[in-house]
Amino acid sequence: MTRLTPGSAPARETHAGAASSPETRDAAEGLARDVARRRTFAIISHPDAGKTTLTEKLLLYGGAIQMAGTVKARKSSRFATSDWMEVERQRGISVTSSVMQFEYSGHVINLLDTPGHEDFSEDTYRVLTAVDAAVMVIDAAKGVEAQTIKLLEVCRLRSTPIITFVNKLDREVREPLALLEEIEAVLAIDCAPITLPLGMGRRFRGVFHLLDDRLLRFAPGEERVVTDTETITGIDNPRLDELYPDEIAALRHDVSLIRGASHPFEQARFLAGKQSPVFFGSGINNFGVQEILEALIDWAPPPQPRGATLRVVAPTEPAFSGFVFKIQANMDPRHRDRIAFFRVCSGRYAPSMKAKQVRTGRELKLANALTFMANERVASEDAVAGDIIGIHNHGQLQIGDTLSEGEPLAFRGIPWFAPELFRTARPRDPFRAKPLAKGLRELGEEGAIQVFTSAHTHTLLLGAVGPLQFEIVAQRLATEYKVDAIYEPAAIATARWLTWPDEATRRRFEREQAASLAADVDGNPVFLATNKYNLQVTMERWPDIGFHATREHGERLARP
Ligand code: G4P
Repeated sequence: MTRLTPGSAPARETHAGAASSPETRDAAEGLARDVARRRTFAIISHPDAGKTTLTEKLLLYGGAIQMAGTVKARKSSRFATSDWMEVERQRGISVTSSVMQFEYSGHVINLLDTPGHEDFSEDTYRVLTAVDAAVMVIDAAKGVEAQTIKLLEVCRLRSTPIITFVNKLDREVREPLALLEEIEAVLAIDCAPITLPLGMGRRFRGVFHLLDDRLLRFAPGEERVVTDTETITGIDNPRLDELYPDEIAALRHDVSLIRGASHPFEQARFLAGKQSPVFFGSGINNFGVQEILEALIDWAPPPQPRGATLRVVAPTEPAFSGFVFKIQANMDPRHRDRIAFFRVCSGRYAPSMKAKQVRTGRELKLANALTFMANERVASEDAVAGDIIGIHNHGQLQIGDTLSEGEPLAFRGIPWFAPELFRTARPRDPFRAKPLAKGLRELGEEGAIQVFTSAHTHTLLLGAVGPLQFEIVAQRLATEYKVDAIYEPAAIATARWLTWPDEATRRRFEREQAASLAADVDGNPVFLATNKYNLQVTMERWPDIGFHATREHGERLARP
């Protein structure tokens, strides 16, 4: 058990206390102010619900981009320059996730994009460990879809506060109250509608803001909210009957039901992940988007304290700390770079500062860290808790790595999940075995795939949660590592990481189960089950051995 070292929590708390110098006090106040201005969130949705469109409109509001179409264009230019995105382009899905920072209304917003496709749910999970809130986009015609359910389960694990955006009201969609009911029932989260739509499809006229008690009018094609012309306050306002004789009755009915029966918005319940404020709108028409930004700023939490192995780390502590939640190699194939996406949890990043990599005890110089803006990456000048910086490295940094200013604490909670799909990999040209192993090791470190080595035959085994992962890896091995490999299905249904009660049991198990044993990238022992029954029987036969369906990134399982 590691012990608190001198200079950790208690010493630091007094740092900014009464005895501190004016400079230290100024620095502490400046840090607290900057942290309070941060909002770090991800947009989650089932593919096609409108995540990319909403992202783009949020960036437009933030002045981070000037023209609609930029995010999509940027995506396509990325495809053009980056071969390994070919699969993404072909399938029209978003595989990788990126980070965008922009300012809005005095706040610094960090928006983390997540891959919508379920085959990349591990990547999404990792991204969600780095955010303080999420915006969930729901297609109003389709309601709650499969991937939304999975993503929400992930958010629930961390009690992430969720803002809901019901999108595409400019189409013929489902009734708003039916959608709210479905969200509550299927996702098991209370809904607190903040706006309700007036009409839909060709007769979509706007949304009624329940808290402000006024109508936000919609004019199709204008890409803005029509508020400057006339404000209509109060749901019983006769002006509403004049303007919208055909639609107003349904809205009044909905508003009275909601005001009578549903849970009013309570920020504390939202912050606890138990209630979601719900907004209706049309992303493509830029309608209802500003309300999402306002909700993020007014209600979503600034960076929160984070649990680490030794203690809870407050975002306003002066000492720098944070963790790597994502690695991406060759983002720009012209540079063959490898970037670790790092969430700052406390203190302040300054160019060329040094930090300790807790896993290895090594000191790293954080030269040229990057900040990701909407259109470009720029050298980071300053970053505080909630910000994401990109750290160039040559493989030293791994997912789950903590960096600190010396204290041996580690942020936890980024798991590998036991894969359920397996393939063997061997190079077509036997002389390419080394590049294959190198490529797989690096892609494994990125978390693009899990790589195991069979203890018996030394065959390389790829494990995935979703089949598209294999395609991406095959494509990347071919383009980035010039390895043409043969992938064959392996007769394995799932894997479990093993922990032993004692040395004798380990030896006995290794002898008896040699053909089913493998090692993961970190050298941890893994049991490969041919089917669920095989797993169950083995677990029953070896009740003292731990069979684990998840493992922490970077974790070395203890040997007896
Ligand atoms: P995703 O990232 O969640 O996968 O969704 P994306 O934003 O790419 O949107 C999926 C489709 O839905 C796109 O149409 C997009 O234009 C459309 N869409 C998004 N928001 C709205 C909305 O508020 N109203 C309507 N009617 N459509 C919306 P597409 O035809 O697949 O692509 P594109 O040709 O328009 O780019």
